[in-house]
Amino acid sequence: QWTTSSIVDEQVARIREQIGDGKAICGLSGGVDSAVAAALVQRAIGDRLTCVFVDHGLLRAGERAQVERDYVAATGVKLVTVDARDRFLAALSGVTDPEEKRKIIGREFIRVFEQAERDLKAEGDYRFLVQGTLYPDVVESGGGAGTANIKSHHNVGGLPDDLQFTLVEPLRALFKDEVRRVGTELGLPETIVQRQPFPGPGLGIRIIGEVTAERLEILRKADAIAREELTSAGLDRSIWQCPVVLLADVRSVGVQGDGRTYGHPVVLRPVSSEDAMTADWTRLPYDVLERISTRITNEVAEVNRVVLDVTSKPPGTIEWE
Ligand code: XMP
Repeated sequence: QWTTSSIVDEQVARIREQIGDGKAICGLSGGVDSAVAAALVQRAIGDRLTCVFVDHGLLRAGERAQVERDYVAATGVKLVTVDARDRFLAALSGVTDPEEKRKIIGREFIRVFEQAERDLKAEGDYRFLVQGTLYPDVVESGGGAGTANIKSHHNVGGLPDDLQFTLVEPLRALFKDEVRRVGTELGLPETIVQRQPFPGPGLGIRIIGEVTAERLEILRKADAIAREELTSAGLDRSIWQCPVVLLADVRSVGVQGDGRTYGHPVVLRPVSSEDAMTADWTRLPYDVLERISTRITNEVAEVNRVVLDVTSKPPGTIEWE
């Protein structure tokens, strides 16, 4: 009989046994899996764990603070934040192709993370790398033949070739809902435990066209409004996720305030899903859609239209890219 607290006790004991008196590094993405994996290891080995959080500048509003403030307050974990925003923007300059964006973001991410690892290794004997691998990830990566590579997914903490680490993967036997329960048991904030899926390349793949600092700022504002309204309507738990997409290369004529505008549209992409392999577009209540649309066009000057994506997956993917 598996209870959440018995999973926690068993994993903490295993981690202690594996790491002994060694030191461990964990990359935090802001997502559930790495947060729960790190919290388990922190419970097992205390401040011999150091977490690394890379701010690539493609985060949503408030996400860095959630990690730096809320997560640290809840766990007491030792955290190093690397501010790599300028580096990512420079690398993405002029790039519009989605796969190229993904490759650049993945590559830069690994470089920045490896540098942080080297810096830590210079300070102490860090021999272990914590990863939030879940049971479905284990099954999926064993899949090999026949799995179509539709998009090159990347996640935090790829294993560098030239740095020797032993992997610690305390979530390898768990499904997502169990991971959330473990996170709650460990006292993690709701904003992290119940977070909806968010792609590793972040807002970089929700801007259709070149990624710039200005465009990121526009999208961050629109996304924050949509999330606020969905949460206050109590819908954030029932939908799978609702990407907000900026069609940065599209402009259309509008009328806002006293005059004509020539602004950008944003797309709302609310979906319902079990596992993200297939998805249905969510029939959001009209009054919620209206509040989101009114607020975005009032509060984000560069946006003069809000449109709704009513495509299922397939044929559409969840993200636009
Ligand atoms: P698509 O767009 O392929 O998305 O229908 C399926 C789910 O995966 C998320 N997603 C990612 N998650 N790294 C991730 O960890 C990624 O690179 C990535 N790309 C897409 C997407 O948000 C959706 O939940």
